[in-house]
Amino acid sequence: MNEVNTNGKLEGDVYYPSQEVIEKSYTKDYDSMYKRSIEEPEKFWDEMAREYYWSKPWDKVLDDSNPPFFKWFVGGKTNIVSNAIDRHLTTYRKNKLALIWESEAGDEVRTFSYYALNREVTRFANILKGMGVKKGDIVTIYMPRIPELQFAMLACAKIGAAHSVVYGGFSVESLAERIEDARSKVLITADGGFMRGKIVNLKQIANEAIARQGTIEHVVVVKRTGHDVHMEQGRDYWYHDLLGMPIINQPCETEQMDAEDLLYVLYTSGTTGKPKGVIHTHGGYMVFISATYKYIFDINDEDRYWCAADPGWVTGHSYIVYGPLIQGATSFMYEGAPNFPYPNRWWKMIEKYGITVLYAAPTAIRGLMRFGDAWPNRHDLSSLRLLGSVGEPINPEAWKWYYEVIGRSKCPIVDTWWQTETGGIMISALPTTPLKPGSATRPFFGIQADVYDLDGKPTAPGEEGLLVVTKPWPGLMRGILHDPERYKQQYFGKFTTAYEAGDAARKDKDGYFWVIGRLDDVIKVSGYRLGTAEIESALVSHPAVSEAAAIGLPHDVKGHAIHVYVVLKEGFSETETLGEELKKHVDHEIGPIARPEKIEIMSSLPKTRSGKIMRRLLRARALGQPEGDKSTLEE
Ligand code: WTA
Repeated sequence: MNEVNTNGKLEGDVYYPSQEVIEKSYTKDYDSMYKRSIEEPEKFWDEMAREYYWSKPWDKVLDDSNPPFFKWFVGGKTNIVSNAIDRHLTTYRKNKLALIWESEAGDEVRTFSYYALNREVTRFANILKGMGVKKGDIVTIYMPRIPELQFAMLACAKIGAAHSVVYGGFSVESLAERIEDARSKVLITADGGFMRGKIVNLKQIANEAIARQGTIEHVVVVKRTGHDVHMEQGRDYWYHDLLGMPIINQPCETEQMDAEDLLYVLYTSGTTGKPKGVIHTHGGYMVFISATYKYIFDINDEDRYWCAADPGWVTGHSYIVYGPLIQGATSFMYEGAPNFPYPNRWWKMIEKYGITVLYAAPTAIRGLMRFGDAWPNRHDLSSLRLLGSVGEPINPEAWKWYYEVIGRSKCPIVDTWWQTETGGIMISALPTTPLKPGSATRPFFGIQADVYDLDGKPTAPGEEGLLVVTKPWPGLMRGILHDPERYKQQYFGKFTTAYEAGDAARKDKDGYFWVIGRLDDVIKVSGYRLGTAEIESALVSHPAVSEAAAIGLPHDVKGHAIHVYVVLKEGFSETETLGEELKKHVDHEIGPIARPEKIEIMSSLPKTRSGKIMRRLLRARALGQPEGDKSTLEE
């Protein structure tokens, strides 16, 4: 079992790191390094940034003259690809594996050294250039979990274009509105992807999405499934055909960018119907994610690292693609579902590839835990040295299973709290941090997090409040695409000098953070972030629905599941098949991740006198809890 609490200072259920972990860690003394990073943040980030290649050094570390619009490494020039690929090519890492990929069927393994990765990215970059993609353009990428997804992202960055990756589990309307908002002229997709042995028809979804908006001129299609798809002449090109063009193998310069130039847009759900395009840059984002990656995972050359998230979400951007590559790590990527064809799939691959670090979502852990210990126990998991968790709070029961059964009570668990907007990990244990199951523990270097009450005062230890960050950090988003005001209002509107995350949390006597969950209308379903407004607008786009309300209710595996209440239009009445039809409609518009668990037909929805749906009341009723203050309820 875990090491004994020898100095007995921390309160609660505490797990201490072993001497071996401490000896091998970059961080021997969190407290003094944290103190230094907070006392002189600019000096700290300046030092961190010096680890990377810059074609021109910065003049100023932080420009905070116009809060909350902060700029980092002002005047500096680099490209995240110069650091993720180019700089490794002149070192021993040139022939080191960057990526190992396994197909869902298990019949294909593809590996890429840094040298090979550079070749693939260069070819893809030349294709994009040939299509007229220029610095500042936003290319939309809608792909299954295959290596070409990474090549496409890196190719965009290399030529100075930004990418907007749309998760391959999203469907027609989600894709269409993201393409539209980004004004993308080029879309990169695949014929399809494999998930649980079935084909996800990405190209057909893409065709429908393109028909709903008017910006796409060219589509690059990677062949993955090989099933028949409609290719629009003059618009759609097979990737393998383009690879046959002679110019493709020419060298391609990595465009040097200003530190503050756009690297990518990633759409995420908020409180309003339209998802917002969160913006990240080449300079500050790069420094922040690579520093967090290095110290939180204690990454070094011997590691085989596996982040089991999807590259289409921020975890994938920061800790599948960019962070690991900048640190020169070897990553593993798996195409399909965790329990395909059997519940030992993950454990089998950990054994097969000698994975040392596994970074996964609590929902996946809970899902696999359900099948019992026998599945992991069949495999030799002794290569693992560190486990990570991300996306939602991890319940102590799942934490302990992960720790004892998967980590054999030897691997620390870094429970990492962060958001699309924060760019990288904000609150997390380091491998040397004493752990408390369910707590993300303490802020990363340079991060000043706190819990505020509604008046902006720090709460007392143990008291619940709003999670805030009181000082800027290099990974903070630079805004919302086309909507600077929304950035300011939503994140700095309440406390002007502090970033408000939208999460409820408390801090205990030891300064450990316990994140409770979202305070707004965002639902975390299996770790995926969805807005109630998106689900509701998908429902009302169905001819039978006049009004809809979506709420999240606790679910054993998913964390939260979506429950919806709908009011039908006149002339429509409840039939046996209507519920199923509405679920399918949500699948088709947003994607299977948004499929409601339960649909209830109502004659009316509870609303405030000003017409706002009272989701809080629906939730309380569904959970059989007290209904609270109903004074604003319309009669
Ligand atoms: C939640 C995912 C508790 C939180 C990286 C946050 C977490 C939202 C944790 C952001 C964690 C993420 N413990 N809650 N370790 N990690 N969250 O943008 O509610 O998809 O606000 O970023 O996930 O979700 P997003």
